[in-house]
Amino acid sequence: MNPIKHVAIIMDGNGRWGIKKRKSRNFGHKQGLKSVEKIIKETLKKKIRFLTLYAFSTENWKRPKNEVNYLFSLLDNFLSNKIKELHSQKIKFVVLGKKKFNKKLNNLLNYSEKLTSNNKKLQINLALNYGSKSEIINAINNLKKKKLQINESNITRNLYTKNTPDPDILIRTGDRKRLSNFLLWQLAYSEIFFEKKLWPDFNEKDYNNILNKFKKTKRNFGKI
Ligand code: IPE
Ligand code: IPE
Ligand code: MG
Repeated sequence: MNPIKHVAIIMDGNGRWGIKKRKSRNFGHKQGLKSVEKIIKETLKKKIRFLTLYAFSTENWKRPKNEVNYLFSLLDNFLSNKIKELHSQKIKFVVLGKKKFNKKLNNLLNYSEKLTSNNKKLQINLALNYGSKSEIINAINNLKKKKLQINESNITRNLYTKNTPDPDILIRTGDRKRLSNFLLWQLAYSEIFFEKKLWPDFNEKDYNNILNKFKKTKRNFGKI
């Protein structure tokens, strides 16, 4: 049975879910947040140490302003209401990506990271304004500045995910089979699960099916 330390998720399909329900894309985003809460709870229950959630890519800025603003207002509300509770559950909150939002949200994100920085039960990495290519470029520039050698361990240590083991599992909901600039370096040996369901329909049972399938998978890492 493979142990599970780190699960990464591309939470895709909110917009289509909202439209399918004859409402708006934003309605889908709001519902998607409920899946986030379910999956956090289940991850705690399963004693998995790291959960990385792709919430907003560097390319998502190209969406209409009303949708971008709505996504950040959802996040602002969620953190304002829930960060104390996450803290009491010993969850550590970390943002992957450059914090270039409005001042209020930047402050709230910094506050949340600081408040929870010593928690050890579950680390939630929220990929926000995240792009894997820019993360790798940023790491290489750090090495150049520090006059360090460009090698595998130095690059790994200068990514936003430093101190996080590589994901054992990547899940992408929403029936698309692509990585969309997510963790290109870190996913080198992850088991990938593409899920047909849209993110707001994804539940604990779907999650557990994937975790169980993973446990039985033979991982080789190049060996036999
Ligand atoms: C959520 O799904 C992911 C975010 C960028 C927040 P989408 O908004 O991409 O939903 P679809 O893929 O358009 O249905
Ligand atoms: C990936 O989904 C980003 C997030 C889930 C945050 P997208 O919906 O942006 O990906 P593409 O554009 O369909 O590849
Ligand atoms: Mg999408």
